[in-house]
Amino acid sequence: MEDNLKIPEHVGIIMDGNGRWASKRLLPRSAGHRAGMKRMVALAERAKELGIRYLTVYALSTENLSRPQEELDGLYDLIKKYFTSNVRKLVKGGAALKVIGDLSLLPDDVSAVIRNGLKRSPDSAEFTFIIAIGYGARSEIVHAANDAAALGGGVTEERFSSLLYTAGIPDPDLIIRTGGEVRLSNFLLWQAAYAELYFTDALFPEFTDKKFEKAISEYSSRVRRFGKV
Ligand code: FPP
Repeated sequence: MEDNLKIPEHVGIIMDGNGRWASKRLLPRSAGHRAGMKRMVALAERAKELGIRYLTVYALSTENLSRPQEELDGLYDLIKKYFTSNVRKLVKGGAALKVIGDLSLLPDDVSAVIRNGLKRSPDSAEFTFIIAIGYGARSEIVHAANDAAALGGGVTEERFSSLLYTAGIPDPDLIIRTGGEVRLSNFLLWQAAYAELYFTDALFPEFTDKKFEKAISEYSSRVRRFGKV
């Protein structure tokens, strides 16, 4: 990787293309999600090494919850595996783990495993890995709007931000989407106001560390003006 790169503080990844990766190999979709989880774990490690402070991955959207039960069960098994075994390694390596989303949308056993896994994490660290599960940006915004109304006293941008799931986390500087689609699909809509967007045709299990570094290098070459001249 080149020297003198501008490393983003917060990167978001929409991990798309697991299903197509599996179909191409005549494998069940669950095999694609398994390969995706392996890649996700490796990318979190690489992000930490690169000095990225926050990495947020879109693991399960509110829309994904209407997928066939068999596929959801496979995803829930992976999530349970992550929050029981992988979380140990992440925390041992000095990182923190957070979840954004509505855990009440998940089966009780899955949300219980997630809550238990989160108990192992420190509140903050040099590197924070954030997993969006049962997450939808519109629902997050509506939730925050209701909280703001209940609290009264009017809202400012700062106050509103502090009512989102991402309270205390800086906005993403770079959002990457794999899998060839060019949209945000209800991911961090409020927080993405000034994010640089990067789209790649690589299916998520094929989104190697090298391809990730290419995205960081492209980000580094962009000029961010935040609406100013
Ligand atoms: C989208 O690809 C991906 C998902 C809906 C799931 C992403 C989940 C993982 C990478 C594993 C997560 C694991 C943990 C522990 C958080 P798709 O299946 O929609 O792909 P397609 O567009 O090719 O069908």
